[in-house]
Amino acid sequence: MVSRGEHLVLGLETSCDETAAGVVADGTRMLSNIVATQEDLHAHFGGVVPEVASRRHTELVTICVERALSEAAAEFGELALIAVTHGPGLIGSLLVGVSAAKAYSLAWDLPLVGVNHLEAHVCANFLDTGSAQEAPAACEFPAVCLVASGGHSEIVLIRDLGDYELLGSTRDDAAGEAFDKVARLLGLGFPGGPALDRAAREGHPGDLSFPIARFPNSLDFSFSGPKTAVARLLEAEPDKHSVADVAAAFERSVADVLVANTVAGAQNTGARQVLLAGGVAANTYLRQAARAACEELGIPVHVPPPGLCTDNAAMVAAAGFFQWQRRGPDGLDLDTFSVLPLAERHESGE
Ligand code: KG4
Ligand code: ZN
Repeated sequence: MVSRGEHLVLGLETSCDETAAGVVADGTRMLSNIVATQEDLHAHFGGVVPEVASRRHTELVTICVERALSEAAAEFGELALIAVTHGPGLIGSLLVGVSAAKAYSLAWDLPLVGVNHLEAHVCANFLDTGSAQEAPAACEFPAVCLVASGGHSEIVLIRDLGDYELLGSTRDDAAGEAFDKVARLLGLGFPGGPALDRAAREGHPGDLSFPIARFPNSLDFSFSGPKTAVARLLEAEPDKHSVADVAAAFERSVADVLVANTVAGAQNTGARQVLLAGGVAANTYLRQAARAACEELGIPVHVPPPGLCTDNAAMVAAAGFFQWQRRGPDGLDLDTFSVLPLAERHESGE
């Protein structure tokens, strides 16, 4: 039910291979979240094919918007704002969402904001789905957020929404990319991250581990070494370990470093809470490890429900609302960006 006086935001997300639309009231109350995944379409190729993705977005975007409005029981006349991801992502895919958002903005006479996809992932933490078990994070800052997806792995200090500092990041592969590549080596198919997660649940890594490079006086990490170590192990001793055990060992190696560096970032900065965000935050082991580490140190921690960690548009609507409040709408000349950093490093501590 839409309440009088609430600002309803329609969010659109088409940065990669999910076409999504969602409606959120006042940046936090989620009224609908429609995600049309293209997984089956790309599985055949073993990865996302940009041209195939953009074509599919054009077919699905208006259908998703109609369903998002209908599920929210909202008319377009009740909307206050349209928010759309304008980067980072695949340019052809972003263009579909941004063009659709501009068309809706003109046709429905609504302001428009372009949202950074990574900031949207952060804002998934503040979404209230109405479920008693899944309470949202409090808007308490400073906070430290691990943003780990298919293209990014960053530890970000949030002084306030819109005020970010990069504390650490991958020096090569993103965590999701590493999971996807190792899943492929293990014959687990596409999309690799969720398949590796499922396989790992049956595994017992024991002493098997894949050391991860860390850097002195830095919260950076690197995942290309352990990925190569898995490939070498499979070549040298293909039958020594089960797929489940290798998956569990790799997942543990990656997640433990992400958690250790995120918690260190929180301790160094006196953060009031730790947040997790991005598709990789749907990982079962990572969620448990982050909760356990933070609870041990008495740092409040929040992890969005798995469906809000992976790409969706409710998070875009949430981020769009806060950005609109901070700096007003964008113009119809809103551009798209394949690279769009969320946060800069203040000082390289090395
Ligand atoms: O945020 P996201 O949905 O899209 C991007 O912005 O990239 O993240 C997708 C990434 C993929 O690499 C996918 O394999 C990974 O997140 N992922 C997972 C899990 N679910 C998605 N990785 C590990 N465990 C999962 N359960
Ligand atoms: Zn994403």
